[in-house]
Amino acid sequence: MKTIELNSENTKLSSIVLGLMRIKSLSPREVEELVETALAAGINTFDLADIYGGGRSEEILGQVLKNRPDLRDQMWIQSKCGIRIEEFTYFDFSKEHILKSVDGILKRLHIQQLDSLLLHRPDALMEPEEIAQAFDSLEETGKVRHFGVSNHNPMMIELLKTAVSQPLAINQLQLSAAFTPEFDTGFHVNMEESLASSGPTGIFEYARAKDMVIQAWSVLQHGYFQGVFVGNPQFEKLNQVLNRLAKHYQTTPSAIAIAWVLRYPANMQAIIGTTQPQRILEAAQATNFTLSRKEWYEIYLAAGNKLP
Ligand SMILES: NC(=O)c1ccc[n+]([C@@H]2O[C@H](COP(=O)([O-])OP(=O)(O)OC[C@H]3O[C@@H](n4cnc5c(N)ncnc54)[C@H](OP(=O)(O)O)[C@@H]3O)[C@@H](O)[C@H]2O)c1
Repeated sequence: MKTIELNSENTKLSSIVLGLMRIKSLSPREVEELVETALAAGINTFDLADIYGGGRSEEILGQVLKNRPDLRDQMWIQSKCGIRIEEFTYFDFSKEHILKSVDGILKRLHIQQLDSLLLHRPDALMEPEEIAQAFDSLEETGKVRHFGVSNHNPMMIELLKTAVSQPLAINQLQLSAAFTPEFDTGFHVNMEESLASSGPTGIFEYARAKDMVIQAWSVLQHGYFQGVFVGNPQFEKLNQVLNRLAKHYQTTPSAIAIAWVLRYPANMQAIIGTTQPQRILEAAQATNFTLSRKEWYEIYLAAGNKLP
């Protein structure tokens, strides 16, 4: 398993992350098996959010950690807060909500400290000073070690940085071979076509320039949770290329799709969301090889994209 460094420190995080968004119907024993399989494959990073399964994902992992406290030290446990699902869904980066969320997360997980906390989806009403106070308190009390964001564009991060003193080390962003809006517009900067009109946010380049880790989510999905593109007849050409490269690298088409995400030259992690141990092992193969530049572009084009 390849690893990346966080904040250029000696903290080694696995290039593959196990996301636990979909585990709410699993038993603690099944989740323990997922965690053990991931750790055995070299995956040490685990992603959660306070809203996953309405808190159930954290509760189940908490039961696992209660029964198996020996696992805690081998795991980098990350969670996210800032989305509120009530009569309708909205975003809340108030100091009170952040602090309350983290207390809930730690209680459900039966742990004293989160390795990293991300702000889940940008709150247009965010007050950087308030967020800074919340982060300072979480750092001082030892409840959170590292901080980051998710689905934030560069200016949002710059705004946060006007008050937040801790490094914002991570940005979690949607990216897969069949979900590339940021690249699509980026390739067409300064062109006449419609793709050029909205313009890229530059978030991928910003992360590289600022040494932020990009954690790609839904690496096998197309659209917004519209399903898996691997083996999906809707993506015939893409699957032909994935299958051919899978044969070439002696791996699975899913591993090729994950390797495509990891080929982006930032400090990349790919978050997988499988609930099946066997698929964790397949995903882990994605770090055994590196796609060439030509193969990366071939996959991009086979997904139905155009280049100038
Ligand atoms: N920051 C954010 O806004 C955000 C948003 C969404 C997700 N996330 C994070 O990203 C993680 C991963 O997201 P995700 O679950 O959407 O990622 P994903 O790995 O792209 O999708 C996982 C889903 O695909 C299925 N699957 C995997 N391989 C398959 C295959 N070869 N054939 C058919 N089905 C297959 C899985 O089913 P099986 O379980 O049966 O394998 C599971 O239902 C989440 O757990 C969460 O931690 C973050």
